[in-house]
Amino acid sequence: MADNYLENRQRELAGAPTVSNRPSLETLARRNRSVRGYDQSYVVHERQLRAMIAVNPLVASSVNQQALRFHMVTKGPEADEVNRHIKMGRALPELHLPFPGTEPEAFIVVCSTKPENPGLLIDLGISVQTMLLKAVELGLNGLIIRNFNHEDLQKGLGLPLEPICVVAVGKTAEKIKLVEISAGEDIKYYRKDGVHYVPKIKTDDIII
Ligand SMILES: Cc1cc2nc3c(=O)[nH]c(=O)nc-3n(C[C@H](O)[C@H](O)[C@H](O)COP(=O)(O)O)c2cc1C
Repeated sequence: MADNYLENRQRELAGAPTVSNRPSLETLARRNRSVRGYDQSYVVHERQLRAMIAVNPLVASSVNQQALRFHMVTKGPEADEVNRHIKMGRALPELHLPFPGTEPEAFIVVCSTKPENPGLLIDLGISVQTMLLKAVELGLNGLIIRNFNHEDLQKGLGLPLEPICVVAVGKTAEKIKLVEISAGEDIKYYRKDGVHYVPKIKTDDIII
């Protein structure tokens, strides 16, 4: 029988949230912060990247097109090549992120069999967010990266398809905090005393 089955059945009947020993979706989403500095003493294995990619056959896709393809990169020359192409923290150019020695060393490079179109980009968002939630479940973190030259990275890695997104994966070396703000306040992320702050508009203000 599943953990907390009876308690959860009672809670369900009472319309209350169920309880579990596993982190809730909210907890996973909270921990799923964009990390731009990694602990390089931890080496991500291909099986972890594969577990992340394995969420893809479970998610929605526009007209069920399933045009995304995934290339795994672990520590080594390919990771160095990816690091030469990607750009991080556009809102904090003075910091030149990532700091030396904290570069990510594992990636999932997302490619497409079709040219970019609105449906494909929505598929991409669903895919990378779900893969990152899986990473958090595995005790890892990551970063969605779209700021790179597609052609250059394709050539650099010798990929048969155009890369449209890079997902960095690793153990975080950063302290990141969410800050609740009202709509209209400054949304720019910032750093203070070694902490990375991410302003998020509160729920009441995003309901129209
Ligand atoms: C489509 C997309 C593309 C992004 N591209 C980059 C990127 O190229 N470089 C980067 O440092 N962050 C990138 N990010 C991360 C965002 O900057 C980050 O999500 C935002 O600052 C909020 O932080 P949070 O993810 O911790 O909530 C991207 C995020 C998304 C959703």
